[in-house]
Amino acid sequence: MHEIKRVGVCGCGLMGSGIAQVAAMAGCDVVILEAVQSALDRGMGGIKRSLDKFVEKGTLSAADGAAAFARIKTTTDVHDLRESDLVIEAVVENMDVKKALFKELDQFLAPHAIICSNTSSLCVVEMAAATKRPKRVAGLHFFNPVPLMKLVEVVKTIVTDDETIQALFAFAKRVGKTPILAQDTPGFIVNRLLVPYLLYAIRVYEAGLASREDIDEGMKLGCGHPMGPLTLLDFVGLDTTYFIAQIMFDEFKDPMMAPPPLLKRMVLAGQHGRKSGKGFYDYGA
Ligand code: 3HC
Repeated sequence: MHEIKRVGVCGCGLMGSGIAQVAAMAGCDVVILEAVQSALDRGMGGIKRSLDKFVEKGTLSAADGAAAFARIKTTTDVHDLRESDLVIEAVVENMDVKKALFKELDQFLAPHAIICSNTSSLCVVEMAAATKRPKRVAGLHFFNPVPLMKLVEVVKTIVTDDETIQALFAFAKRVGKTPILAQDTPGFIVNRLLVPYLLYAIRVYEAGLASREDIDEGMKLGCGHPMGPLTLLDFVGLDTTYFIAQIMFDEFKDPMMAPPPLLKRMVLAGQHGRKSGKGFYDYGA
């Protein structure tokens, strides 16, 4: 089993930049790929801010923070990922885009290299089928914010081999996360449980049964959740949740997974949560 030392990350959004950061903090050499330089600059700015927070808190020395930052290279040329032992894809949740990327990576990566998707709900084996190494393709699903959330779902498709799963468990532990094994079904483990819960919170609000604040306080103080469901929806993104819910509903036809009308309307109105300045709450944008 090859040790994972060099990591390629495709996509420098919230998830991709977080994944690159934790891999670099664990001592891996990282190359991040994006379509345009401005997206790389934005993502690297986020990584710097997050590393600075750990340094301020005293959980990371300034020297280790600087060394982690220096281990991250950026590129707009996919071929710069050729040395990678592991490539983690965190681009837009669009199957055609992901399949094209997997196909291209497969053509020049070393035979031992593993290709993973950070998708939250798309079918991983469909991406694997775009490559000639389906046994070495899996899901590696991180949680937002990646530098803080301790979990990684390692997603085994019906063709991923055990050696790949072992290598990914070892990698997840190396980057300070706790891996759990999930199957390649929409939502894996966490979103399969979380998304129906979030959708139900919207239904309770939509039905006028409680205020948004009381719904959130209820779940925070009554169940010990760090964020209430409507705050969490704003944090995850209403567009993202709507997308995941649609995929889950398409597959399972379970009414619990059907996006409520209010969610659809908020997404159509551009109320995507924190990132758009408005969701269930206002963020002053
Ligand atoms: N990097 C480094 N430090 C960070 C950080 C980052 N990216 N973000 C926040 N912090 C630090 C803050 O500076 C703060 O430090 P301090 O204690 O020294 O002040 C500390 O972390 C706590 O942050 P906050 O005070 O801002 O807020 P909270 O105490 O509420 O913690 C939270 C923030 C960890 C996000 C917590 O609210 C939480 O766990 N929320 C739930 C998140 C969750 O459920 N995520 C999963 C979403 S689902 C998903 O991702 C799957 C996908 O497929 C949809």
